[in-house]
Amino acid sequence: MVQQIGTRCDLIMFGALGDLAQRKLFPALYQLECARLLARETRILALARSEVDTDGARKRLASRIRQHVREDELDEEVLAGFLERVDYLCFDFGDEAGYAPLNEWRRRGGGELIVYMATPPSLYGMIARNLKTGGCCNESTRVVVEKPIGHDLESSRVINDQLAEVFNENQLFRIDHYLGKETVQNLIALRFANNLFATQWNQNHISHVEITVAESVGIEGRWGYFDKAGQMRDMIQNHLLQLLCLIAMDPPSDLSADSIRDEKVKVLKALRPITQDLMETHLVRGQYTAGTSDGKPVPGYLEEEDAYKGSSTETFVALKAEIHNWRWSGVPFYIRTGKRLPEKLSQIIIHFKPAPHYIFDPDQKHLANNKLIIRLQPDEGMSLQILTKDQGLDKGMRLRQGPLELTFSEAFNAQRIPDAYERLLWEIMKGNQYLFVRRDEVEYAWRWVDQVISNWEDHAASPKRYASGTWGPVASIAMITRDGRSWYEDV
Ligand code: BG6
Repeated sequence: MVQQIGTRCDLIMFGALGDLAQRKLFPALYQLECARLLARETRILALARSEVDTDGARKRLASRIRQHVREDELDEEVLAGFLERVDYLCFDFGDEAGYAPLNEWRRRGGGELIVYMATPPSLYGMIARNLKTGGCCNESTRVVVEKPIGHDLESSRVINDQLAEVFNENQLFRIDHYLGKETVQNLIALRFANNLFATQWNQNHISHVEITVAESVGIEGRWGYFDKAGQMRDMIQNHLLQLLCLIAMDPPSDLSADSIRDEKVKVLKALRPITQDLMETHLVRGQYTAGTSDGKPVPGYLEEEDAYKGSSTETFVALKAEIHNWRWSGVPFYIRTGKRLPEKLSQIIIHFKPAPHYIFDPDQKHLANNKLIIRLQPDEGMSLQILTKDQGLDKGMRLRQGPLELTFSEAFNAQRIPDAYERLLWEIMKGNQYLFVRRDEVEYAWRWVDQVISNWEDHAASPKRYASGTWGPVASIAMITRDGRSWYEDV
């Protein structure tokens, strides 16, 4: 028999038949099963309100796993084995007395207890309290919660306080799924394992940084949630600021969770507020109108199902962030993210400064400076754009621009790149917190985002319209052009 190498766990999942659990969590657990990373004794208790029995729940999970796992990665025998680990309870999360059966289920097991709250954040506090009253958790229980942690700093504090009444910070695993992406993790290796970059990584050598997280999809039936959040709260407060922190942070003294998180917090604290007088030059909000996506006509944001026609929620944000410290003084970080853009693309571009003294043909001076392009998705990889001599006797010292490419799928023999949730679940099982967000990170991120939002509310400007299938409002291009630069795709 092939050995499973994971740690033995009892995983209780609240909201187990909800969208996140079915679309992401169970397919990820199935993949861990395929990779033999679930210990033989690991068990899963799925909790939800649907009145089905364990068999019915397993059937539902099986069909969603089949839907979300690639056909060539589906092994019916492994799937059947995986489902045997799953028990189901129809459960009212608010019923204190109803928590007793969780203890009975626990008594039959004995692994580390992990509680995954795949529920709306408004339920975290109540579930935590009921777990405590029901005697269902102890000091070694690990608790996993999803974003959004609140709607602003104040509401995030309420949620974090409720969790803190029951659990210590070292028991809490706050998910930002971007931290589980292969290339995002690779940022740490790239920066701190390569002295070549370490010495160049500052305002002496870098002119500016671009971070783009573009999606071609629209709101995907989530209008109710999204309209209250908007792109700033949904994407910038968490994913984009996390990427910015990983690019901008100082080297941690080691790879421990707190060493890394301490450095990220320093970056968040050093972010310059985008005050009223900077609104025009540092921030662009957009909202998509009808257009095309993948060659098909698509409706505008205000014409989506359930839409409130007067909404001024932004589906696109471009901003210029500045970090007030020695390393980054004078280096803008241009960030943009939006829905219904031409493609799904997440990438970071580090633009290096030109050589201090230019000795080549002056008509070649326009050739681009060195750039490091880090592709987070799709086609994960990196490319370093350099200038070399063009080949041939007739070329003299003509320069040529070209990439040093590292495409992960080729470099690692097309090995499968695990989904972010697989990695995150695996780290939770090992009890490693370094890919999870600490309370102070959430709060400093909110502090910065809150002031931006409150300034734009005072400013009272509506978001600028952009047609679906374009790169956002023209104002976002103007924002970067004003500084004599351009977004990478526009070059
Ligand atoms: C989620 C946001 O956190 O991230 C969604 O709520 C967004 O609005 C999604 O679509 C993007 O994640 P990914 O992994 O597809 O880039």
